[in-house]
Amino acid sequence: MTNSKKIYIETYGCQMNVSDTEIVRSILSKDGYQFINSPEAADVILLNTCSIRENAETTIHKRLANLNTIKKENENLVVGILGCMAKQSGRKLLQTNDMVGIVAGPDEYRKLPELITNCFEGIKGMAVNLSRIETYDDITPLRTEGVSAWLTIMRGCDNFCSYCVVPFARGRERSRVSSSLISEIEKLTEQGFREITLLGQNVNSYKCPESGDSFSTLLEKSAAAGQGMRIRYVTSHPKDMSPELIEAMARNHKICNHIHLPVQSGSNDVLKAMRRDYTKERFLELTKLIRSNIPDASITTDIIAGYPGETQQDHEETLELMQEVQFDGAFMFKYSPREGTKAFKVEDSVPEEEKAHRLNEIIQLQSEISKLSNLNEIGRLHEILVEKPSKRNRDEWVGRTDTNKTTIFPNKEGSYKAGDFVNLKITRSTSATLFGEVVQV
Ligand code: SAH
Ligand code: SF4
Ligand code: F3S
Repeated sequence: MTNSKKIYIETYGCQMNVSDTEIVRSILSKDGYQFINSPEAADVILLNTCSIRENAETTIHKRLANLNTIKKENENLVVGILGCMAKQSGRKLLQTNDMVGIVAGPDEYRKLPELITNCFEGIKGMAVNLSRIETYDDITPLRTEGVSAWLTIMRGCDNFCSYCVVPFARGRERSRVSSSLISEIEKLTEQGFREITLLGQNVNSYKCPESGDSFSTLLEKSAAAGQGMRIRYVTSHPKDMSPELIEAMARNHKICNHIHLPVQSGSNDVLKAMRRDYTKERFLELTKLIRSNIPDASITTDIIAGYPGETQQDHEETLELMQEVQFDGAFMFKYSPREGTKAFKVEDSVPEEEKAHRLNEIIQLQSEISKLSNLNEIGRLHEILVEKPSKRNRDEWVGRTDTNKTTIFPNKEGSYKAGDFVNLKITRSTSATLFGEVVQV
């Protein structure tokens, strides 16, 4: 189908949204739409949004205010809100923001062509139903980049952690059929991709609806299907981390030695209130099991500071746990109350200033730990997947280790290109980056 209309999409939030944007691009390109890289000349602007914390939503409100100048120049411009915020606050946005003409939640992207056509005719529309079955299994995402591919293996989440909007924004957990995932991986191999990240909110509870394959089986099948490729995954929930999965990672060198294992807190009282379903002791056992089976593994985490009722003692237990585990990296956040969640009903009792103080202590400590962990890398050898030139110096290139550490190296006379695997010896490091030089092994 031909269509002269141009679409511009911006993506916010987690990798699930990055992957969904590729599905949206696929659906709309079948309808003939062209995609462009800046909003000024667009007929349609879509924002694929996130609701995880209040500031994620504030960012979108600001962006909409900002896009108003383009809407004033082009009154036929269609503006659509996709993603988690569409489900969570789409109705309100449609009612209160004149610019917004379309609201489509994560399970309703097949309706986008119709919603956009209607909107060009002046009819605003909203589709935010959640589905128990939608996995977009038959839609091949339109990927824009040729080295690393995201592959969504499951959608939604059934865990209902007390603070989290994801189960409300994305609905019940459902897994894609493993045979269809494996044929997608085979196609990605043919297209020259060198790394695939299997995606889901809780990948280790993946279960193939046809064969019953578990996540570790899928992971091993993926590694076998992806020729010349690395396989990664995010995110795993500590309560579902099985010894089989750790063994599969230890056995198979194509599966990257990186585990993102969000702990959230080091206090058993807080973990219980969060409904995380594991204790600090269990978490520590798990990290020991990972390190004894896979000595080189990097373990990263997520931490929330200032959950309702969190005491100074609880906070200190989080710092102690961080000291004990020595995470290689962490995403750290201030607790943000989210409407509809269980925690929203209890008082947000830690004062803002105290939350900021605790978060700061957590960030400081992690920065020291990351610095130390990266100092220990000096002299080590790593195989790097080359990604792109460094922004600071075009003669230097950026890649990542198997353990997911960003690494910079000189690309003398342009000998290497994106997608190459290169062996580096680490010569220097900061808390965020490794630096290395190419060695022959
Ligand atoms: N499914 C993943 C996490 C997805 S959300 C998991 O369970 O591990 C990413 C991170 O955002 C969470 O791990 C948590 O640390 C943080 N987060 C989620 N809701 C939050 C809230 N209301 N306030 C602050 N941080 C939050
Ligand atoms: Fe949210 Fe918990 Fe599900 Fe992660 S596991 S997406 S934190 S409800
Ligand atoms: Fe945000 Fe939705 Fe991801 S709330 S973090 S975009 S699942």
